[in-house]
Order: sequence, then structure tokens, then C-alpha cells
Amino acid sequence: MNTYPGLLQYPVPKDKTPLVKGRAPSENRAHDRVPILEALQQYRGVTRFHMPGHRGGEGADPLAVSFLGQNAFLNDVTGVPGMDDLHEPHGCIAEAEKLAAEAFGADQTFFSVNGTSGAIHTMALSVLSEGDTVIIPRNIHKSVLSAVILSGAKPAFVMPSYDSFLGFALGVDADSVEACIRENPSAKAALLVNPTYYGTSVDLAPIASALHRHDMALLVDEAHGPHFRFHPQLPIPALEAGADAVAQGAHKIIGAFTQASYLHVKGNLIDRARMKAVFQYLTSTSPSYLLLASLDLARRQMVLYGRDLLEYALALAAFLRESVNEIPGLYAFGEESLGKPGADWLDPTKVTITVRELGITGFQAETFLRSRFGIQVELSDLYNILVIVSFGNTSDEISKLLDGLKALTAAVASGEVPKKLLSAQKDIPDMPGVPELALLPRKAVEKPWERVLLEESVGRVSAEVVTCYPPGIPLLFPGEVISKDTVSYMEIVKRLAFGISGPEDRTLRTLRVVKGL
Ligand SMILES: Cc1ncc(COP(=O)(O)O)c(C=O)c1O
Repeated sequence: MNTYPGLLQYPVPKDKTPLVKGRAPSENRAHDRVPILEALQQYRGVTRFHMPGHRGGEGADPLAVSFLGQNAFLNDVTGVPGMDDLHEPHGCIAEAEKLAAEAFGADQTFFSVNGTSGAIHTMALSVLSEGDTVIIPRNIHKSVLSAVILSGAKPAFVMPSYDSFLGFALGVDADSVEACIRENPSAKAALLVNPTYYGTSVDLAPIASALHRHDMALLVDEAHGPHFRFHPQLPIPALEAGADAVAQGAHKIIGAFTQASYLHVKGNLIDRARMKAVFQYLTSTSPSYLLLASLDLARRQMVLYGRDLLEYALALAAFLRESVNEIPGLYAFGEESLGKPGADWLDPTKVTITVRELGITGFQAETFLRSRFGIQVELSDLYNILVIVSFGNTSDEISKLLDGLKALTAAVASGEVPKKLLSAQKDIPDMPGVPELALLPRKAVEKPWERVLLEESVGRVSAEVVTCYPPGIPLLFPGEVISKDTVSYMEIVKRLAFGISGPEDRTLRTLRVVKGL
């Protein structure tokens, strides 16, 4: 139950539509339409002698139908007349993509049914060919690395800024990108991530201008920013700042189904015919219409009701942030952490709760909230937990989270939750510089590899990525030469038990290296 008086002003919006009904600006009436949903409705009643095999649910295991609901099966239609073709849209998908382009400020939008990863791959392969240089920040998501591998491009890395208290990487600033452009004047594009997972974001406008002066495209992994356009308190969206193509995780932040994402393109720098061809190479010929309809509906909801829904989410998040900062030992960063390189703005609906002052790790906090309160946060790392506040959350849920956090601090004080954050883990040593690239990442993963002991890996060429948390910036990419400094750093990482992701051997006893090099 909600026991926080300040939260009472945010009642649970049981049905969020009446909350905002009638406020849709008249020029957006076209956005009331949901072409894919309409086509699915029209398909009802047709006798089905076609795929999928479950025949609208009649051929599915009854347990599946009772668990998922008949509608999930009835609407799981693909590749029949009237339902359009995602590869060559000309009907309901074309209409829906056009509405999405208008809503998100793009010239053209593609619906991705392979997550934001699929959108990133399409975007990168539309611009990059084998041997082309692409400017990327070192703290990319693995989908960007796979785009580099698939395209055969050469990465030119920009180091992101790093916040040593919070323990995570921020964005890249315009000066660093400009320096990288000078060093790589023939680069084809930059592929940047903005905002970061933790919600910090940079002003992309000067970066876009610098790239465009050199005919380089700005591609943006905006996985965590599909809502930015719909509320003025949120950071400026990449397309408005001058990006040429943007991948957005509609399933991550707004109401689409998991996997459903948008790929937007704007301007003339990107060859749209090539993008369409690449999209076809990478996309299933049997896309799920549940995913496609959810992209259509997420667009409708954002255009018609986004502003009010986000207003509500921002209010909940502001209350949460303030309340967390009143709990001794906890800290939720806000505006005061901005205005430095790599962090111009913050999406306030991302609430990072730093627990390091309690002497525990974020991993412990996550486990406590889950096991004792049935609360699951988005992620935890050594110092923090990350909570994403959405208009799908209620004030009661915020209240429950605050109760859980207070109980956590009490459990630490009583010794029930042991202080596992070692003092040595509080100051992470500086990372070694960007290693020398001996082979293009694609070549490095294509070649045979072998496993060697960490201490015997100096001078060898890595065949895998190694990232440790903090700082969440990869130490090694495939194709990079393993230096003495990198190995020494990994020894420290092992000793301090930092989180490790990427390598097959998470203990870092061994590394995968390219054979014969
Ligand atoms: C910054 C970033 N980019 C790309 C992705 C890939 O998105 P998806 O899981 O939809 O493929 C993620 C996923 O978490 C992400 O955080």
C-alpha cells in the first residue's frame, strides 16, 4: 500500500486512456489509426489452410492457448493477402511505417522484428563495406560489435568519459569525436550510443555537424530513447540533432512487444535502396504480426497520449529520486552530475540507485529486493542498481520499492546483509589505453583460434571481447593485440572480483586467441 503522502497526488491510472482522452491535438487524428491492427481485425473469420501450423490456436496445445489467450494465436498471421509484406511493404505495413516515420521525425522507418540489434545491423551494413573505417565509442553494445564484424569494417575507437564514483561509462564528447575524425579522415560514419543504459546523454548536434562536414554519416544506437520526442523534459532525440539513421528499442521503453524496434532514416546521406536491400537480407520472411502490430500501437500511444503518460512517469521518477536521496547511505544521481564531458542531459525516468556507501554491492541490493520484496530491477552492477520508471508503473509500486530500499539499509545495519563491497573495489585503477589493432575484427573471428593461459597471452591477438564492470568499457576486442598492461589489468580485475562479460572463460584464467598469430 502507498504510505508516502507525496505520492498520493499520483493516483494509479487504472485505464490510462481516459487519463488523457480528448487531449490529442487535432492534427494528429491520422495517428488514431493502427493499419496493422485493422488488417488483423479484417482477417478474422477467414478459414485457414495456411501457415502458421497452429491455425489460429485450434492446432496449438490447449495449455498454450489457455496460457497466452486465443487472441495471441488468432492474430499470429503472416504472409497472406491483405497482410502486406515486410520486405516489400505496399499495404498496411507501408501505412504503419509511414505513420511511424512521421511520428518519430524520420523520412522513412523500417519495423524491425529482430530487436534493436537487427536495426543496428541493418543501419551499419547500409553504410559500411569491408575495410571501411567506422568511428565508435569503446563502450558499445555487443550488437554494434557484431555489426562491425558482419560488415568487415575497421573500428576507430573513441574513449567515452567515465564517472568513477558511479562506476560507469558516459557518452563521447564532440571534441573526442572531432579528434577521431582528424585521425581517420576517410572514415565512412560514426556509430554512437546515445543515451547510455543509465540514461545520460550528449548533445549530438555538434557531433553531427562535424561528421557531416566530412561527408560521414551519424548512426545512432538510441535503444533507450524512443520516448524522447514526446516530452520536452527528455533529452533531444538523435534525429532532431542531425543523425542520419537511428535504431530505437520500442520494446525497451515504450509499449511494444519484446524484440520490436524501429529503424529510422533521415536525409540523403544514406542510400535508402541499399538500406532496403540490407533489411531484406537480414529479416525473416515470416515476421510476427504481433510484433508488427505492437510497433504500430506503440506509435499511436506515443503520438496521442505520450506527453501525458510521460509527464506521469517523470513525476513518479522525480518522487522516487528525491525519496531515495533522503535515505541515508543511498544516492540517486540527477542534474548535479551533468554538464561534464559525455553527460549533457539525463533521462530522469532512469533512476540509478548507488549503494556503495552502504558497503554492499549493487548485485546484493538486487538480490535482496527480489528475494525479500519480489521486486526486479533492470540491472545491477558493482555500485548500483538501475530502475526504469515507466508510465506502466504505479505509485504503489514506487512506494513498495522505497519500502524495500529502507529495509535494505536496515538489513545492512543489522548485519543481515553482509558488507561485501571491498574497500579495494571502491577505486578502480585506470584502464590501459586502446590496444593496437592487428586484424580486422571480422578476420579475427573467422580464423581458427586456440585458448592460452592469461599469463601466456601477451603479444597474441584476441579472438574475443573482454569487458569488466566497472568501468563497462571493453579491455579487448577481437583483432586487438594483448599487451602486458592489459594482462596486468585483468589480474587486478580478477583479484577484485569485478563483473566480467564477453570471454568464454569468465574466470579469465585463459583467453581465446587467434591461432598462429
Ligand atoms: C544500448 C543498447 N543497444 C542495443 C541493444 C540491443 O537491443 P535488442 O536487445 O533489442 O536487440 C541493447 C540491449 O539491451 C542496448 O542496451
